[in-house]
Amino acid sequence: MTERRLVSARPTDDDLPFDQSLRPRRLDEYVGQVPVVANLRVAIEAARSRGEALDHVLLFGPPGVGKTSLAYVLAAELDAPIKATAGPIIERAGDLAALLTALEPREILFVDEIHRLDAKVEEILYPALEDFSLDLMIGSGPGARSMKIPLKPFTLVAATTRAGLLTAPLRSRFGIVHRLDFYTEADLEFIVTRSARILDVPMDAEGAREIARRSRGTPRIANRLLRRVRDFAQVRAAGAITLQVARDALALLEVDANGFDEVDRKLLLTVIDKFGGGPVGVNALAAAISEEPDAIEDIYEPYLLQIGFLDRTPRGRMATRRAYEHFGRVPPAGGPGPGQKNLF
Ligand SMILES: Nc1ncnc2c1ncn2[C@@H]1O[C@H](COP(=O)(O)OP(=O)(O)O)[C@@H](O)[C@H]1O
Ligand SMILES: [Mg+2]
Repeated sequence: MTERRLVSARPTDDDLPFDQSLRPRRLDEYVGQVPVVANLRVAIEAARSRGEALDHVLLFGPPGVGKTSLAYVLAAELDAPIKATAGPIIERAGDLAALLTALEPREILFVDEIHRLDAKVEEILYPALEDFSLDLMIGSGPGARSMKIPLKPFTLVAATTRAGLLTAPLRSRFGIVHRLDFYTEADLEFIVTRSARILDVPMDAEGAREIARRSRGTPRIANRLLRRVRDFAQVRAAGAITLQVARDALALLEVDANGFDEVDRKLLLTVIDKFGGGPVGVNALAAAISEEPDAIEDIYEPYLLQIGFLDRTPRGRMATRRAYEHFGRVPPAGGPGPGQKNLF
């Protein structure tokens, strides 16, 4: 997926080589997500000591928070091979059957965007996950018969931005389910500092903090802003990233103090000005700002919900008092409540 937006949490083409080099390799390098990491350590150690495949793992959370990274870290920690694919890539049941029968014992099959798996493909997966076997129909008509093919014990690691879209039977087959949250500023500061070291860019702590603060709680965005600020530092300053350099660079890039860009501002101001603060349904909002409803739910809105600028109610999205204040608007009398944290 290509995307032009600087603060989008989705990967852009020029993220790819950097995502690779900046990706944490082991659990020790995996910053933040403390409860998730602690739980996984126990599960990994238990599986290793029994010499068994790890239970199937479901990771969910907004884009850019480390789901793919964690899948590879799990493979490294388990000393297991890993194959990666994605829900929309597996078109036919036969494609999945081919993948599954080729897996080695304890191998990890990483399926990104698992919520976009075709229903027929998904059905193949149930017995595979439950008792490591494939139920295949051979032939058709009166001569058709079903055949059970045993699989090696493997681990499915699945990632999704939309856990709510998973069917109940699929969800129930994961023994380990974790939500990855947005990162704290301190975690992001740590991550960009490490990335700057890898990229060999001099940066002081204030510069790192400024980039962290504007990264929408998302490591992928932090690393992307770091690269743009590095360019600025090289061309317009002495090469080092300081607080001033970071501020000037981010101002030029039109990323504001909250990490908002044009789309965020447009979204919030549309709710406030065009829909009287809401509630407004996601489809109407999407049409008003010429974006896909999916994009709003997947990438724009989670962070705005998290920092309490937007509220999700059964009747639609509402701008919070905090959002009004941010834009210097006066909230309607008896109007929106204080920003509330309701993530998903
Ligand atoms: N916990 C983390 N510690 C350090 N860097 C991280 C962490 N999570 C993500 N990153 C950085 O963010 C980038 C994007 O993470 P990724 O795993 O691709 O996110 P997702 O799969 O959730 O979209 C990675 O390449 C890595 O540089
Ligand atoms: Mg990913």
